[in-house]
Amino acid sequence: MSFNTIYVMLMWVRMAPPLPLIFFLLMIHGVSSDDWGVSYSPSHICALKDSTVIMRCTYTYPTGYKIEKVFWTETLKGDESLDLSEDPEYSQRLQYLGDKQQNCTVRLSHVTLKDSHMYYFRIITDKPDGKYTGKPGVTLTVTDLQVESPERVTEGDSVNLRCKSSCALTDRATFIWYRNSQPLTERRDRNNELLLQSVRREDSGRYSCAVDGHTHISPAVQLNVMCEYRLTFSL
Ligand SMILES: *[C@@H]1O[C@H](CO)[C@@H](O)[C@H](O)[C@H]1NC(C)=O
Repeated sequence: MSFNTIYVMLMWVRMAPPLPLIFFLLMIHGVSSDDWGVSYSPSHICALKDSTVIMRCTYTYPTGYKIEKVFWTETLKGDESLDLSEDPEYSQRLQYLGDKQQNCTVRLSHVTLKDSHMYYFRIITDKPDGKYTGKPGVTLTVTDLQVESPERVTEGDSVNLRCKSSCALTDRATFIWYRNSQPLTERRDRNNELLLQSVRREDSGRYSCAVDGHTHISPAVQLNVMCEYRLTFSL
């Protein structure tokens, strides 16, 4: 119980009749850590391939229990749950930023598409019944980027290229476009679309996209701008 809580209680004792005090005590009893709980915030994360993810997490456990071990796992196998920090797939990339009291935040770096699944936080205490896994866990979706573009367009057309991800990246994502590996510096946008108005043959090339501040870059997609007369000729 914090000093503030005690202070507020003392004020209540001085100012209020006993009945509300009893209710108040019941109330703080409810919010104190007398129960098992793990909360993940947010509970769904969309991350770009190769990026670093922070899974924010807090936990509570009943008083009278002593924490022996806390860890993150990807299975719900009870005592057989594997500690991810001992899994060669994760050990180099996983860093526990939490503590042995209430913070279970973890950081996972260089995420791959294979990392897309649910993660759980598990608590082991000194008592045989004192084990708990926070279910449901936090869902990580790792996405790469793909350029969506029409294959052929005709000179004069307006063309919309889209930098596609399989889950919604944060609003803060700023997209960068490349043509033949050269950044189109004037095209830096919160929008994941690149609008090429009235295209010319020089707009032909291999287009790729990325998100500012991230190393992952989409595979390049060829855009061919055809001359109008050729089409007319072939008709
Ligand atoms: C938990 O720890 C992380 C990493 O140190 C920190 O960023 C976060 O603010 C902490 N959360 C709480 C609720 O203390």
